[in-house]
Amino acid sequence: MITYKIFFMKNFVLFCCAVVALQGLFGCSSGQTKDGYGWLKNAIDTSVKQLEETVADVGDSVCLPRSIWTGYDMDFLCSQLQRDPATFKDSLRVKPVKEALGTRRYCASIYDWTSGFFPGSLWYAYLLTDNENLKTDAVKYTNYLYPVREYKGTHDIGFMMNCSFGNAYRISPSDSVRQALVQTADNLCGRFDSNIGCIRSWDFGKWNFPVIIDNMMNLDLLFYVSHLTNDTKYKEIALKHAGTTLKNHFREDQSSYHVVSYNNDGTVELKCTHQGKNDDSAWARGQAWALYGYTSCYRESKDAIFLQQAENIAALIMARVKTNDDIPLWDYDAPAMPDTPRDASAASITASALIELSTLAKDGQIYLDYAEKLLKSLSSDAYLAKTGTNQGFILMHSTGSLPNGSEIDTPLNYADYYYLEALYRYMQVKGLTYKSL
Ligand code: GLY
Repeated sequence: MITYKIFFMKNFVLFCCAVVALQGLFGCSSGQTKDGYGWLKNAIDTSVKQLEETVADVGDSVCLPRSIWTGYDMDFLCSQLQRDPATFKDSLRVKPVKEALGTRRYCASIYDWTSGFFPGSLWYAYLLTDNENLKTDAVKYTNYLYPVREYKGTHDIGFMMNCSFGNAYRISPSDSVRQALVQTADNLCGRFDSNIGCIRSWDFGKWNFPVIIDNMMNLDLLFYVSHLTNDTKYKEIALKHAGTTLKNHFREDQSSYHVVSYNNDGTVELKCTHQGKNDDSAWARGQAWALYGYTSCYRESKDAIFLQQAENIAALIMARVKTNDDIPLWDYDAPAMPDTPRDASAASITASALIELSTLAKDGQIYLDYAEKLLKSLSSDAYLAKTGTNQGFILMHSTGSLPNGSEIDTPLNYADYYYLEALYRYMQVKGLTYKSL
């Protein structure tokens, strides 16, 4: 019998029990009939079919699906960035092989920052359906990442191991999985500098000590390992990082810089972007990472400053979206033109975060309603792939790194992962099970 330990969603459980009890008392299901969830059933069925086909297609090769290879047009990039081609540096631009365009792109290795998302999607698909085959697949792909527990070269080990091994432990605990999580958390803490008060993000580039807003996502691994070990050191480091980031990453309008680099004495060296339109723009996925991260920090600390920050970011996102279906353009400051790429990954992450925030905030309904709108948009024909298409990925129309010419208007494994997580959270909050749909 599998015990699902919803450590990081324990507030959900209390909240959901109350919702389910009320539904029982009043004999209704959030005012919606069973038929009102056709979109949700279709979303889950389509996701499962896409994952199963991908697993069958990949077979026994150690390949972790990441996206579809896309090319780029220099003039288009410059028009999106509103930069003069003559001044546009292209040193980091990905140069896809022409023959590869349109084919499935795999993680370059298990050390790719996105390597945990495909196994993680399989775990969520299993949670959503109780289909044991998906669990077998999830275990297989999770095991590929075992050597990552020894890796120290990036902050992304939090993403990689929490989405794979973290979900494995929450769903089906074992000693070796626990040990891998603790070792990874120790390595992540090894990147913490107490003078600066942050975990270092990258070991490449021109910066002295770069910290990117994405790093807020790695804190959940530390929170989780604090619970597993009863050692508060992991949580203390996570909250210190969150506090320093709160001080330095946010502008007056509550949008976030992508990169803040620090001098060794803790003063700020510079603030800039790596994946956004420009240094002062609001890169869509960065805002989503921030929202998700500060929601986690409030869940763990109950410090009102983190709740306030999460709500500030939620307000910014809801106010600044420019599309009819609320799926953001790849940067909130990108030119609002018909061919400006959207970023479904930012929408998935935002939806997942808002569902959790709805269980923590005083006026949570507004966040749940907005998340539901996002999920319905993502589950429409405009974003949800037809089975057998999209190289087996679930969602279309995400953007990885437009300024680097990488993964523009394409599926991304992390869009799929956070979409499934959001569907799962949504069902928890609504008191739904797959069988009830
Ligand atoms: N963490 C890298 C990205 O969001 O693209």
